[in-house]
Formats: sequence, structure tokens, C-alpha cells
Amino acid sequence: MYRPVNLSDQIFYVGVNDRRTQLFENMWPLDRGVSYNSYLILDEKVAVIDTVEAGHFEKWINKVRTILNERPIDYLVVNHMEPDHSGAIKILAELYPDMQIIGNKKTLPMIEGYYGIKTNTKEVKEGDSLELGKNKLTFYTVPMVHWPESMVCFEETNQILFSSDAFGSFGTLDGGIFDDEIDFNHYKDEMRRYYSNIVGKYGNPVQKALTKLGGLQIKTIAASHGPIFRKHIPEVIAMYNKWSKYDTEEGVVVAYASMYGNTEEMAEVTARSLAENGIKNIRVYDVSKTHQSFIISDIFKFKGVILGSPTYSNELHPNMEALVMKLTHMGVANHYYGVLGSFTWAGAAGKKLTAAGEELKWDFVSEAVEEKHALKADKYEACVAMGKAMADRLKADRY
Ligand code: FEO
Repeated sequence: MYRPVNLSDQIFYVGVNDRRTQLFENMWPLDRGVSYNSYLILDEKVAVIDTVEAGHFEKWINKVRTILNERPIDYLVVNHMEPDHSGAIKILAELYPDMQIIGNKKTLPMIEGYYGIKTNTKEVKEGDSLELGKNKLTFYTVPMVHWPESMVCFEETNQILFSSDAFGSFGTLDGGIFDDEIDFNHYKDEMRRYYSNIVGKYGNPVQKALTKLGGLQIKTIAASHGPIFRKHIPEVIAMYNKWSKYDTEEGVVVAYASMYGNTEEMAEVTARSLAENGIKNIRVYDVSKTHQSFIISDIFKFKGVILGSPTYSNELHPNMEALVMKLTHMGVANHYYGVLGSFTWAGAAGKKLTAAGEELKWDFVSEAVEEKHALKADKYEACVAMGKAMADRLKADRY
């Protein structure tokens, strides 16, 4: 038994929830799971928009077949080839050998490369349309949101944007599928964690995509993960616009690595100084405890960043090095920055964290504070001064 979920009288949600996978892309914790969204259009022609991760094929195809009621599938639209969406293409093509697979010129070689499929495919170009009867899909490429072949399609009659990874979120759809059926606030942090870690490197391509799609009259955004939006559309577009421009709000992420508590103490002193100087949004993280995806998500939210690390064999602590590597790889822009560190015989962490800030073109609020052995009075006061300097910079932006 399956009761269909309609986006319109002919368009159906056929996505699935995944509460079993621990790590998305085998990297990102899925504490609240993830949904793989897929859509079915049952018109004179039948089209499926994206499949699901292969391990979820069975429950997905049961939904699809219930709605199909013995009808064949005419088209599979492949908006994105990452296997969380393309994983069931091969088996679906074997079940429906007459089905034509729709992709753009970058999609089709990937379909051949991943799944060995090179027949019964159709290439669409920017602005091409596919007539299904009453429904008509028009295709727009959105390269690097999230892969080079990424594409979205717009159903013109019902004004539904099938947006692929764009506007997606971690978190399963726990009964509520549409944003007017849920408390959207429950999803916002996971939406930002998804954006910042999965798409966050590609701020400029996201800006280009927003510009390209800006002229469409959109009534529904049907993404490939997370809620379907029909109530909060201006808000989610504004969220994407803000994040992709690296716009932030007042607050500070203090992230540190610490082996025996000395760098941690410097982080605590600095955080206290931030609070004493009027900063209310302060998030202090031990990078060995909190997964970097949560820290990165907060760095996309808050303007201030203070990183601290002990020197470990003349390098950064490895867990801080992993965070810094991800931040520099992503090119996260537009932050105020401070550096802390401790060492036992020769300091290197301060220089390395400083170099990372320079590479990212972050705006230093003070000199790096590095302490030899345990924290003593002069460096204690330097941490206090760094907290005040950061707070002053943030408060100056209020006016
Ligand atoms: Fe949800 Fe880039 O795949």
C-alpha cells in the first residue's frame, strides 16, 4: 500500500528517507539522516526526475510502480550524476528498456562511464524543453551546483523548479514533506551544513545559477534532498544568496585543538573576553570532538573566526590541519580572524594558522598569540586583548 504524495494532480513525490547511512559521501555525519528526493510526472508521457541511492531502490520503485499502475516510463531526467541520485539508473534502464534517458552533454559521458549506458539517451541543451502533455520541462544547466553536469528543470504549467542539490538539506522528511507541513526552523541548520560542506566551495557558480533562474516565476522548489518549498521560497533564495556571497552575521567561532589543555585554556580565555565585550553568539569547538562539518557550517554563519592549535611535531595538530585544509580548499571568504597556539620546544602552529588566514585573505584582528608551555600572565592578557579586538571589529560593523 502506498498513498501518493502530490505536487500537482500529475506530479508526485517519490523520494525515500535514509536513516541508516552514518556518513554522507562517507564523510559528513548524518545524525538526522537524509532524504533522496525523486519525482514522477504522469502525463501523456511519463517522466521520472532523478532516481535514488542504489541501496534504496526497492522502496523507491514500489512507490513509482504504485503510481504508474502498469504504465511504462518514457523518460528519465538526470539532473545530477552523483550516485545518491543516479544510483538506480542502471537497474531502472534494465526494467524499462524503452525509457529514454535525458541529460546534457556533460551528463551523458558520465552515464556511460558509471553505468555503461550509451544507447537510448537524449542530449538536451540550455533552454531546451520536453513536452509531456500538459506538463513541459525546460532545462537549465547550473555547473558546479554541485558537479559540472548539474542541471535543473522547470515545469512551466505548475511553475515547479526541480532544483537538484540546490536548496537541499540534510535531515529526513519525518512525515512532513512540504515546508508548509513542517517547522522549517528545524531544518535551517542542517540546510546550512549541507550547503556549506557540499556546495560551499562553489559560491560564484551558485550566484550565477541564482541570476540565471531569477526570472522564473517559481511556485514550488522541489530539491533533491530535504523539504519541498512552496511557502518559504523568497527566504530560501535569500539564504542561498547570502551564503554564496559569504555574507555572515555577528558572532565568533572559536575552534581549537588541544592535547593537554593549554591551547584550550587560551580559547576559553578569549571566548570569555568576547562575552565581556558584548558578543553574544560565541561557539567554542574542540576539533577533536566536533565534526568539522558543524564547525564549517557555523563559520558560514558567523563573521569572526579564532583558530587555535598546539604545535605537533613541527606541524599543526592533525585535526586542526584537517579543518584548515578544508577551509582553504573551499576558499571560505570574508572573515575577521585571530590565531592562538601553544608549544613545548618550538612554535610552528601559529605561523601555519597565520598562513592559512593570509591565503584566505581573512582580516586579522591582532597578532597571533603563541605560548610556550602553560598559559602565563602576559599571554593570558594577550588572549583577553584578542577577544576585545575581535569584539570591537564586530561591533563596529553594527553601525
Ligand atoms: Fe545530492 Fe551532489 O548529490
